[in-house]
Amino acid sequence: MTQHITTLRQLRDALPLPGARSRPLSLVPTMGALHEGHRSLVRKAREDGAQVLATVFVNPLQFGPGEDFDRYPRTLGSDLAALEEEGVEWAFFPEASEIVPKNPRIRITHPVAELYCGASRPGHFEGVLSIVSTFFHLVGPDRAYFGKKDRQQLFLIEQMVRELLFPLEIRPVETFREPDGLAMSSRNRYLTKEERRIAPELVRLMTEARDIYAPESQLDRLGWMNQLKYRLKERGFRPDYVALVEPRTFLPLDSEDPPESPAILLAAAWLGTTRLIDNIDIPARHV
Ligand code: PAJ
Repeated sequence: MTQHITTLRQLRDALPLPGARSRPLSLVPTMGALHEGHRSLVRKAREDGAQVLATVFVNPLQFGPGEDFDRYPRTLGSDLAALEEEGVEWAFFPEASEIVPKNPRIRITHPVAELYCGASRPGHFEGVLSIVSTFFHLVGPDRAYFGKKDRQQLFLIEQMVRELLFPLEIRPVETFREPDGLAMSSRNRYLTKEERRIAPELVRLMTEARDIYAPESQLDRLGWMNQLKYRLKERGFRPDYVALVEPRTFLPLDSEDPPESPAILLAAAWLGTTRLIDNIDIPARHV
């Protein structure tokens, strides 16, 4: 049975302290509207032999003014049923007033928080880092699971854990996709039938671009990225950004990086009122 927890007191009473754990404690933070991608994180945590605490919390700090906080899908009943089915030990779904101050002033940030998704969504990653660090110290997990679907978020959380010495291990999980390739996302339910038909073109065009990637210069890289943007527009997307990122620093690849360097290709694009993101690895070329 999944134990339901909503208050900090219940949380303190429920969780085994670090010295008294028979198995590792794993944290899986989510904003709910759970789908197979979320479930794959929970499954991974269980396969790794841990007891699992999943959070379901639509974090107001990571939504900007005019973003989709109000319309973000809230499906607590079916989320709790899904966590029960997956054999999760604890579900923590607090009220915002329990864990978010009225006028929060502390910020955890990093230069990469300003780039890519952070450039279009100012303050987004600070909001994510605030809530994730809050969950880390409230729960005190041995491990925490995050999806590669949100690659920039994963990078920033890994940096935060490293720099602030959180005593836990981050375990990344591969992006879980629909059979047609679309990365699962709680926001996919905003798509109309027609948009849903087009949506898998995002990763398909990214993969096609990866397969012809062979820059000899920085100018080639720019041309190649512009071509991907152009193709996305042709299919009906409004590209927000396309970026080639150096995996260790998450900075844009520049003229110093040799053409054969490994990279992560990131893209965000709008379809109607829905913003989709995806990313794929571009392995090092052996020339
Ligand atoms: P949310 O979008 O609900 O995602 C929760 C976790 O599930 C994140 O680690 C995300 O990367 C992962 N995830 C989502 N879709 C996935 C997919 N298709 N395949 C694999 N993993 C996937 O990300 C957040 O919530 C929030 O920012 C949060 C970390 C909970 C902080 O509020």
